[in-house]
Formats: sequence, C-alpha cells, structure tokens
Amino acid sequence: MSSERSAIILAAGLGTRMKSTKPKVLHEVLGRSLVGHVLRSVRAIRPERQIVVVGAAADQVRAHLAEVAPEAESVFQDQQLGTGHAVSIAMAAYPELKGTILVAFGDAPLLRSSSIAELVEVHEKKGNGVTVLTAVVDDPHGLGRIVRDNEGNVLRNVEHRDADPEELAIREINSGTFACDAEVLRTQLARLSTANDQGEYYLTDIIELAREAGHTVGAVVVDDPTETLGCNDRAQLADLRRILQGRINTELMKSGVTMDDPATTWIDATAKVAPDVTLRPGVQLKGATAVDSGAEIGPDTTLTDTIVGADAVVVRSHADQSHIGEGAHVGPFAHLRPASKLAEKAKIGAFVETKNAEIGAGAKANHLAYLGDATVGADANIGCGVITANYDGVKKYRTEIGEGAFIGCDSTLVAPVSIGDGAYVGAGSTIVKDVEPGDLGVARARQTALTDWVAKKRPGTVSDKAARRAKGEAGVSEA
Ligand code: UD1
Ligand code: CA
Repeated sequence: MSSERSAIILAAGLGTRMKSTKPKVLHEVLGRSLVGHVLRSVRAIRPERQIVVVGAAADQVRAHLAEVAPEAESVFQDQQLGTGHAVSIAMAAYPELKGTILVAFGDAPLLRSSSIAELVEVHEKKGNGVTVLTAVVDDPHGLGRIVRDNEGNVLRNVEHRDADPEELAIREINSGTFACDAEVLRTQLARLSTANDQGEYYLTDIIELAREAGHTVGAVVVDDPTETLGCNDRAQLADLRRILQGRINTELMKSGVTMDDPATTWIDATAKVAPDVTLRPGVQLKGATAVDSGAEIGPDTTLTDTIVGADAVVVRSHADQSHIGEGAHVGPFAHLRPASKLAEKAKIGAFVETKNAEIGAGAKANHLAYLGDATVGADANIGCGVITANYDGVKKYRTEIGEGAFIGCDSTLVAPVSIGDGAYVGAGSTIVKDVEPGDLGVARARQTALTDWVAKKRPGTVSDKAARRAKGEAGVSEA
C-alpha cells in the first residue's frame, strides 16, 4: 500500500555564517541552489505537495522557488523558534496533509534521491510513526546523537549541547531528514517543549515522544555519510561542491566519458555528457549544456547552456547559449556569445567572437573576427580581421553573407548589408552596399607610390640602407 506523501523542506534560517546578503539556501552548487538540489531529490517520492518553510529573506527564496520549482509552495515562519516549530507551521498551514510526511533541510544538497526513497519505503513498510535518516560519522561534533537500547532499537535523539559524556561518544547522528506519519507528527509536534539548552522546539524530540505514545519508531542508516552534510559557511559550501563533483565525474566516467583530469573538470548536475566524449583538463560544463558523443572539449573551456554536436572539437574557448554543430571546430580562444549557431563542420578559430550569428555548414572564420547579428552561408570563408559592424549606437542590424562567399581580410561589413552567394570582398574594404552574387566588392583607397621617398626623406636610416642594397646601389656596405 502506498500512501499519500508530501515533503516539508526547512529553509527559514538566514545562514549568518555564510556572511552573505543572499540567503544560505540560494547559494549554488554545480548548477542548482542548495534548496534546488533538495527539491530535486525529494521528487523521488512523488510528493503530493512540496512545502518550503521560508523566513529570512523570504521574498528572495520565494522568487527563486517560482523560477526553479514552481510546483513548490511556501509557508512563512516569522521567528525561527526551532526545527519543530518550523514543521508545526507547515502542518498548521496544510491541515489536509495525510499519509507520509518527509521532512528535509534546505541546506543539505547531497542527499541522494535513492536514500530518500529508501527512508520512505522502510517507514511505510514497517508502519512506523517516525523514521529518521541517520549516518555513522567520524566526527559527530555539533550534531544530534541517536540513542539506541541494547537491542539496537531507536530510543531518542539528543542534541550535542544537551548530551552527557556517554551520549557524546555516540557516532550515529541525526541527518535531519525524517519520514513521519502525518497524524503522529501533528499530535507529537503539539507536545514539544523548549526544555533544552537552546530553548527551541526541537523536531528531533518527536522520536522519543512518538515512541512513548506507543508508535514504532525506526532509523535508516545511509551508507555514504557525506549525504547528510549540511552547509553553514563558504568553506563547507566548497566541500559540498567538491564531493558532488566527485560523484558526477565518477558516474560519467563509468558511463564512458574520458576525463584527463577529473579534479579540474566541473560539470553541473544539470549538464549532459554522452559516452565517448573526451574532456581535457579545466573544463566547466554549466546549466543545460549537452555534449554529444565523440566530441572533445578543452583544455580550459567553459560552456554554459550550450549544445555540442557529435565529434565537434572545442579548445580553450567560452560559449554561452550556443549551438555547436556536428564535427564543428571551435578555438583556441573563441568566444561564442548567446544565439551563436554553428552548422556541421563550421570552423571558428582563434580570437573570433560570434553573437546571434548563424554560421553555415563548413564555413570558416579562422582568426580574429567579429560576427554579430550575422548569417554566414555554407562554405563561406571569412578572412582574418573581418568585422560585422552591427550596431549604429542605437539599433542593431543584420549582415547576410551568402553561400561560398569570400570575405577578404580586414574588411568591415557595415550592416544592414548583404554579400551574395559566391561573391568576393576585397581585403581591407569597408562595405556599405550590397554585393551581388559572383561580384567582387572592393571599397578601399587606391594605392599610390612616391618614388624614392625614403632616399629623399629618410636618408641614412636602416630603411634607406636596405633599400639601396635592394637596388644594388654602390657605396653601401653589407654590414
Ligand atoms: C539539526 C538537528 C540535529 C542534526 C543536524 C544535522 C534539530 C533540533 N537538530 O541541528 O539533530 O544532527 O540538524 O545537520 O533539529 N530551520 C528553520 N526554522 C527554524 C529552525 C531551523 O527553518 O526555526 C532550518 C534551518 O534554516 C536549517 C535547518 O532547519 O536549514 C536546520 O536547523 P539548524 O538550527 O541549523 O539545526 P542544527 O543545529 O544544525
Ligand atoms: Ca545546521
């Protein structure tokens, strides 16, 4: 029998030790906020409702939830009177809640969905009133200790500051994640007191209260204690990030991704990497980035929300909201700004910047160019130093470059302008008028020569000497 389930996520604390204007749960770890990770894992139990208890900087947290988890609801806890108080507020706001209530902390992002699912399954199968997720850790300092009897039955939780020396020696700790029967939870929350060192309503006390009231209580011990780690300061935030990085990278390598240096490879939990991709040292794949098989990324490359086709190569480059086609080649030192779309086998080389640009199949811009608000036809060749002048200071305009066109080096194409299929532009041109298919557009000053100008105006200089040698004139020594 699978009962109705809901999740309550506690996220009302400011997280003073983060020393931040941003509430703690909004700090990010590999593509998701702390609370975003928690909401994601909680989905494993298909909750009817996802209720986030907000307090400090509630507006910011609510705005974030609306963005990343619109299905989540929030309740406001004005004063943070303890974890038990926070859950009471949520239960009071939703009197219709029934079945299993999962309680989790918004600042513990490493909890696996599989552990949450197991906790809830065990809880429901055993018909427990309360089941707590615990871990056995080397250093339980500051955490709640799980007290068991000689048979191993869970008796209660004691917080570090309320524990006696014998209890302090216990290494099994409360993760903060609970599965509770809604009725039991409601009844026992009403009985919480603040008779503890902090004078707070402790959620943890419901273990003992439920047991005393005749309900079965139990614990599920997680295999990997890092899952229970929370975040109180930026050093812990970095620890969490490093742990998640290890998990993501190991999983990807097992699925067939090559990583030259996993320690410097940072892949967001939201990114996708296909088998047989090779990642060189110093790669970051962020957001909705997806890399198809056979592609080679890096070294030292950051891709954000970027799609990379099969067998593409991206070297020492930066791309945002772009699409790199199959077999395309990018870099070294290329910058693909939003809405850059490279068709298959296109080539964007060193110090080329693109923005809102469609680069056709097999087209090349190999060096030092800016292509903004532009369409480049298939197999076109964009010479070194070409610039699409897309902005007149007020508005942006498009440049259309036809299929097989050839744009000579150091040309400026002043948009709006179009270069026809198969047309040429002479090097150093400033093009302000359309060039018809097959025509050559040249727009530059004609070259003139002032004969023997150097001999007249720069006599005796190295240039003069070199010129004289070249002309074979007498009296100029080879030295
Ligand atoms: C809590 C547990 C402890 C456990 C540890 C694991 C209690 C009493 N203690 O201790 O047994 O080992 O977590 O990390 O539950 N919060 C609210 N409203 C409140 C109070 C807290 O939303 O009124 C939120 C906080 O923002 C935080 C979470 O609940 O996300 C945990 O609260 P915190 O006070 O940090 O509990 P700990 O002392 O860490
Ligand atoms: Ca804490």
